[in-house]
Amino acid sequence: MAGPGRIRKIRVTRIRISKDLARLSETAAELFADIANAAISSTGSFTVSLAGGSTPRSLYAILASDHYRGSIDWPSVTFFIGDERYVPDDSPESNYRMVAKTLFRPLEIPDRNVYRWNTTSGDAETGAKLYEKDLRPFVPLDLILLGLGADAHTASLFPNTAALHEQQTPATANWVEKLAEHRLTITFPVINSAATVMVLASGIEKAKAVANVLEGEFRPDEFPAQLIDPTIGDLYWLLDESAANLLERR
Ligand code: 6PG
Repeated sequence: MAGPGRIRKIRVTRIRISKDLARLSETAAELFADIANAAISSTGSFTVSLAGGSTPRSLYAILASDHYRGSIDWPSVTFFIGDERYVPDDSPESNYRMVAKTLFRPLEIPDRNVYRWNTTSGDAETGAKLYEKDLRPFVPLDLILLGLGADAHTASLFPNTAALHEQQTPATANWVEKLAEHRLTITFPVINSAATVMVLASGIEKAKAVANVLEGEFRPDEFPAQLIDPTIGDLYWLLDESAANLLERR
């Protein structure tokens, strides 16, 4: 990985720019299905960590549609949630709640196929330790879906937070000063060991972050998504025109 200060040639396997979020989500769904079916046919199973936030909602809705319901062997899929807010599962803030509503319930995914963060253990650190126990045996995962914040965070790996430098544990409770709360998140060793990483970013409000991460000076504490750098896996950045608006190389 390049040292700080030098322009870093990010080893992006592919940048795909779609007209809008709807087309981006269709591209992501096709890619998701290809990766899932390849994993299932070669190993009999598929492990995926899902992104939270709002960008992937339309992707999840497409995957829950009749077309994809029949084109992936969903019982062979094991799901993780890449990051979580320390809130009850029924909170509007909960990433699990969003994914359960848009993907798990429509596809009737059984609970035994979903590893969710424990957010009722009393404290975030305990929640992270419990999740680590669940996640560790499955690492490296087949696919990790990530979003991108306007501040270039990904998962709950926010600028200038301790978890950016975590190199051992696969899951941690990350104190985020600007939110004045702990966030539960997978860490870069898990992200960068995956067979495929897919980052989705949509909207003009992400354009600066996309340009900084993909073409800016290597300053990972400021632009954490610059640390997305799979060791041997494939990396896809799926953008819409707005999010790609400030990229020089397109
Ligand atoms: C979360 C997400 C987070 C998200 C980005 C982008 O818990 O919010 O995991 O990393 O992917 O903040 O969020 P939007 O898709 O809502 O813009």
